[in-house]
Amino acid sequence: MNFWSKFLSSTKPRNAKHWPGLIHTYRDLLDIDNKTKVLTLCEGNTPLIPAPAIADTCGVIGLSVYLKFEGANPSGSFKDRGMTMAVTKAVANGLKTMVCASTGNTSASAAAYSACARSNGYSDVQCVVLVPDGFIALGKLAQAIIYGAKVVQIAGNFDQALNIVKELSQRESIALVNSVNPDRIEGQKTAAFEICDQLGGRAPDILATPVGNAGNISAYWAGFKQYNALGLIKNKPKMYGFQAAGSAPIVLNEPVENPETIATAIRIGNPASWKTAKEAVNESFGLIDSVTDEEIVEAYKLIHSSQGVCCEPASAASVAGLIKASKQGKVERESTIVCVLTGNGLKDPQTAIDVSGFAPIKSAATMDAVASAIGL
Ligand code: F0G
Repeated sequence: MNFWSKFLSSTKPRNAKHWPGLIHTYRDLLDIDNKTKVLTLCEGNTPLIPAPAIADTCGVIGLSVYLKFEGANPSGSFKDRGMTMAVTKAVANGLKTMVCASTGNTSASAAAYSACARSNGYSDVQCVVLVPDGFIALGKLAQAIIYGAKVVQIAGNFDQALNIVKELSQRESIALVNSVNPDRIEGQKTAAFEICDQLGGRAPDILATPVGNAGNISAYWAGFKQYNALGLIKNKPKMYGFQAAGSAPIVLNEPVENPETIATAIRIGNPASWKTAKEAVNESFGLIDSVTDEEIVEAYKLIHSSQGVCCEPASAASVAGLIKASKQGKVERESTIVCVLTGNGLKDPQTAIDVSGFAPIKSAATMDAVASAIGL
């Protein structure tokens, strides 16, 4: 029996259970008291998908690669983990206006949880999002709009938008729900908890993740350290973070004034959690590196066509980075690796079509015409 069939057959069949969301599940490990009313869309509990084709592509003997599919969260990205905490606590503290800067996913998530707050009796909660005009995937923009946020498209990039909302949030009754808000990091830690639980009480050897504003890699490391300190895991992973080559300030060790990449979600030149991301990498003996847009697109196609998993371009940076690191001999044999797929590919269908070289096959509506069109 090979590794994959052993893994799948060892998973006990169970009845589908209601998952109450990550705060209710991990409440004793999170900074929230028992009285606070939780705002949840039942986020978390995302699949850890075995990825043998990606393991093969890495060409390292004995690799077990999994994809932590965060696109399965309610608004389609890992941001929901931090947002359930941030909005729950902001609203509990009487704040009414949720504000964020975003490359798209944070805005979709903040808008969703603000709607959730309204449905839980906080009818005067509103959401304001600032996004770089022309540089966010259409699906994310559509989400923020339809969830009822006020969307401001600024003539600038994410870094400029973040500076503006930081200043704006000094005003009364405004909650800043970017990952500079510690409640966001607190919620996002739960992804590390889940991975350890899903692997049967141990951490992977390597956790590979895209890096933009650098909150998520910081949150994962905090989560692994906490589980380790509690004795729930004996090991800790090496943290491998990957930035897009045109937006790689941490790799270059200096801010990038005009960040560029096809992966618009991580088009960030001056990450807010720069310091904690570096600590995560250093303390875990990991690495931070960049991947080119070509490498991102190649990994993006591979994840879809050889694994059947739908992620957005930024998410593919984790897999692109793993492939690069393995080619450089930075991945040991027999390792267990988790690549985080941070967001759902359906948010950005235009990129999927653009990079696929898709040419429509048109046909008359008869069986013979279809058979001939497909060369049968
Ligand atoms: N992947 C996706 C799909 C993202 O949306 C982001 C960040 C990241 C990775 C990077 O995570 O910032 O914690 O290092 N998106 C933010 C946003 C910036 O506004 O949606 P990070």
